[in-house]
Amino acid sequence: MKVPFIDLERQHKPIKNDLMQAFERVLDSNKFILSDEVRKFEEEIASYAKTKHAIGVSNCTNALLLSLRALGIGPGDEVITTPFTFVATAEVIALVGAKPVFCDIDRKTFNIDAGSIKECVSARTRAIMPVHLYGQAADMTRIMRVAQDHRLKVIEDMAQAIGAKYNGQMVGNFGDTACISFYVTKNLNALGDAGMILTNDGNLATKIRAYRVHGASKKYHHDFLGHNDRLDAMQAAFLRIKLKYLDNWNAQRRRIAKKYDDALRDVVATPFIREDNESVYHQYTIRAARRDELAKYLNEKGIATAIHYPVPLHVQPAFKYLGYKVGDFPIAEKAAAEVLSLPIQQDLTDTEVEYVIKCVREFYNN
Ligand SMILES: Cc1ncc(COP(=O)(O)O)c(C=O)c1O
Repeated sequence: MKVPFIDLERQHKPIKNDLMQAFERVLDSNKFILSDEVRKFEEEIASYAKTKHAIGVSNCTNALLLSLRALGIGPGDEVITTPFTFVATAEVIALVGAKPVFCDIDRKTFNIDAGSIKECVSARTRAIMPVHLYGQAADMTRIMRVAQDHRLKVIEDMAQAIGAKYNGQMVGNFGDTACISFYVTKNLNALGDAGMILTNDGNLATKIRAYRVHGASKKYHHDFLGHNDRLDAMQAAFLRIKLKYLDNWNAQRRRIAKKYDDALRDVVATPFIREDNESVYHQYTIRAARRDELAKYLNEKGIATAIHYPVPLHVQPAFKYLGYKVGDFPIAEKAAAEVLSLPIQQDLTDTEVEYVIKCVREFYNN
């Protein structure tokens, strides 16, 4: 049997007619950038995430970048984030000329250790950028408390967490802005790149809308230098269709996660979800003894797995200039050596899930 990590054909087959109709609608409209289609999708996402504003952009990396720009963060500033994330989170901090300051992670959730953030605060700190990793919210109560105590901005990197809840509240409502990725492998995925910025601050929303179109509040009138970071109408149209399925898909992921939890918790460390959290399981990431051997064994059995992430950011060559070294963030480093993501796509069959379980157990029992 072959168990894919992601199989987009499987996801798209049942909704292909709807996607084709959306394609034709946009084609016939001859409006391909921003447009009514994007405006409607923004309204639908704002309503889904329960935020006042949603601004469609080209991808989540640029959503994070525009958030930093709109908050006025740049050279001389420091932004605290996690070293255990996709590179984009810290990359954009550096790209606006600010300094990423890493803070180690919580050993159970893999999210930034909220209790250690205050030790990273300096006179130059301007913001905290927590990541809701694998679809589980970071510890937002404690993060917002540190932010308030030190008058820091907060940008939620919710690339992996659309639909996740913290204390019953949708993620995306805690920080000054929150950034979503609709990359092809995400829970809500475009047929290409796309992203969104959420905010409950009207002034910030206006600023971000201008940053998205070269700093123009009116066409050809540029108040400041911005970017070209518009969302395509075609992607918005596809995403509007998929949004209707998101809750169902996330529920399916939770159902698969529960099966894995029940069947594997005695052989590996299954994901720890805090009581105040509802994860959307963008990844189902275990902590496994002999991780690389397990991955190899599963691969031989036809099961695709992935490592999120094999090298923490503080030891990536791209961030060498920051002066960190191996040993600086031991919890993140240990996680990088031990984590393994199992297939969790919503449309895996029970037979496939049971096969994954059987093979993982087989590896440890032999
Ligand atoms: C945590 C995190 N932040 C940011 C990004 C960047 O998203 P995008 O690919 O839409 O630019 C990703 C996407 O992989 C991510 O997982």
